[in-house]
Amino acid sequence: MASPDVLARVAALRREIERHNHAYYVLDQPTIPDTEYDRLFRELQALEADHPELLTPDSPTQRVGGTPLDAFPKVRHVVPMLSIRTETDTEARGAQAFDTRVRKELELAESDPPVEYAAELKFDGFAINLRYEHGLLVQAATRGDGETGEDVTQNIRTVHAIPLRLVGDALPAVLEVRGEVFMRRDDFERYNARQRDAGKPTLVNPRNGAAGSIRQLDPRLAAQRPLSFFAYGLGEVQGWHGAPDTHSKTLAALEQMGVPVCAERITGQGAAALIQFHDDIAARRDQLPFDIDGVVYKVNRFDLQRQLGFVTREPRWAVAHKYPAQEALTTVLGIDVQVGRTGKLTPVARLAPVFVGGVTVTNATLHNQDEIDRKDVRVGDTVIVRRAGDVIPEVVASVPERRPQPAPPRFDILQTCPVCPECGSHVVRLEGEAAARCTGGLVCPAQRRQALLHFAGRRAMDIEGLGDKLVEQLVERGLLHTPADVYGLSLDTLAGLDRMAEKSAANLLAAVETSKTTTLARFIFALGIRNVGETTAKDLARHFGSLDALMAADAAGLLAVRDVGPIVAESILQFFAEPHNREVIATLRGAGVHWSESTGVQQSAGMLAGKTLVLTGSLPTLTRDAAKERIEAAGGKVAGSVSKKTDYVVAGAEAGSKLDKARELGVVILDEAGLLALLAADEAPGQFTLNF
Ligand code: IVH
Repeated sequence: MASPDVLARVAALRREIERHNHAYYVLDQPTIPDTEYDRLFRELQALEADHPELLTPDSPTQRVGGTPLDAFPKVRHVVPMLSIRTETDTEARGAQAFDTRVRKELELAESDPPVEYAAELKFDGFAINLRYEHGLLVQAATRGDGETGEDVTQNIRTVHAIPLRLVGDALPAVLEVRGEVFMRRDDFERYNARQRDAGKPTLVNPRNGAAGSIRQLDPRLAAQRPLSFFAYGLGEVQGWHGAPDTHSKTLAALEQMGVPVCAERITGQGAAALIQFHDDIAARRDQLPFDIDGVVYKVNRFDLQRQLGFVTREPRWAVAHKYPAQEALTTVLGIDVQVGRTGKLTPVARLAPVFVGGVTVTNATLHNQDEIDRKDVRVGDTVIVRRAGDVIPEVVASVPERRPQPAPPRFDILQTCPVCPECGSHVVRLEGEAAARCTGGLVCPAQRRQALLHFAGRRAMDIEGLGDKLVEQLVERGLLHTPADVYGLSLDTLAGLDRMAEKSAANLLAAVETSKTTTLARFIFALGIRNVGETTAKDLARHFGSLDALMAADAAGLLAVRDVGPIVAESILQFFAEPHNREVIATLRGAGVHWSESTGVQQSAGMLAGKTLVLTGSLPTLTRDAAKERIEAAGGKVAGSVSKKTDYVVAGAEAGSKLDKARELGVVILDEAGLLALLAADEAPGQFTLNF
């Protein structure tokens, strides 16, 4: 039997872990570092392993997925899950038409005041009914045919945003929360990129991702899919004292109980408010982190909802007002191959122009050979093209029924491009790699162009004005071969180029000059070493302190760097083993590119080594990026939120809740001058600036 101490500890851990879950997955405001969360989680797991009798279905450890099922049991909905009428007119008139119908049904005269509406987003996911009894999640069911759905409780438990237990004292005996499970676009992209790298099947779109995960018989697979949830209504309710009398108050009450509710919602009077919401969201649709296919308008007062009732299976008090689709059908005119910075060959479908997601799309990526094979996309095919947000348009599926006959041959990248289309070098596809690559390195103009653009990028050497078109011209005319050539450009050479006025040539040269003073981390990143992104570059700079130390490091030395594994270490070794790359580096240094160096973290830890700082508000002179860069150079870490682990909070003008939190926790608060003083103490001793 577990002692009262153990019981209390288990309960406290569960509460705390779920509080952090909520902060992380629902509020998007992490409260503690991942390592701390993992520690709490492991402690709970260990206690539950020692005392299996304490294990309950609402324990956060049960979110990882249990044993696979043979089939989902059926669930009868006490209150049917209805659908809503769709307003087909995508223009503002749709909202007007809804308001007119509602007023007519309610027999309102023109002189009567406007009807109050709640407006929210129409999430493009999968409808779910969550049944809570006395606050405990007891069952989750799909909509099914509206009368009978399927019991998917096991899978729903793996969705971290869904509370296993509601928060509050006077919780209803029965509360069915209805809402949509969906996948955020960034989660979808990340999941697909991972699957693609592993040569595993990808998801067609976030909606299918959400639906497929929930209808997955093996909950351990469902647990690997990053899903989110928003509530939009209720099903059966029993014993809710002081139950709200409007839709908007209901959503607010659910939010109080810890249920995720989307903040993009309003209440407003009459059609005008609806039209404004519709247009506002339409303008921001691409910036939302998830897909929506429209907005939903609801009569806010429940008594009026009851009065309006239903027509067949649709309520008269709600309507979905759709936006133009983000997926469309078109035909593949051809498949081109583009060469990227690291020589990767990307097949791109040339399409019959099609209007999708608000723009006309003529090209869409096909990613790699595996993806083409899986989707079986052929020239002449009718395909579904998707463009959502700022993501590059993508061919998500081909429609084989519409394939021309006789069927065109399958596309094979190695057959089409036995040599690189840009430079004629051999193309190889290495064992275990999804991508085919050009072996030409910087001999290949495409790789050279991309490498130069990367080198000049904002987060690398930050050479403003050295963009796409200019780099293309310079490479084509043989004026730029390697990044080192950037520092040999002259006003005369630049002035001779197309569309290059003297003023912009002078500006570019000034930017080139400014870029000579940089940081070691930026320089390492700018080199474009395969598998070395910005974060790794920062880690390498901090660890080795100087470029020579990095260049001299062997595999063991590289593996000692945080987050550097064998693949990254191998890429770095290969890069520096190449005499040509060493030459470019020497030339860059010779041209005056310099940065401040140190002896590295091991030998002399920076003043801020091991310290965690949080920036809030705007500082008088430093940009956030600049402050972050300098803190990191001194060995410190910049975190997004304040916790007991925070060492300093640097507060500027209009600092918000982070400053309050810092005061509350007694964290040391600095202004910019204070930060600079700390950094000065760090940057002075033991460090020196090298000018090559
Ligand atoms: S209300 C009785 N609100 O769209 C009204 N539905 O046909 C019940 N949906 O299957 C639905 N976002 O899954 C409502 N904010 C929202 C919604 C929403 C997405 C889905 C829902 C339903 C379909 C409506």
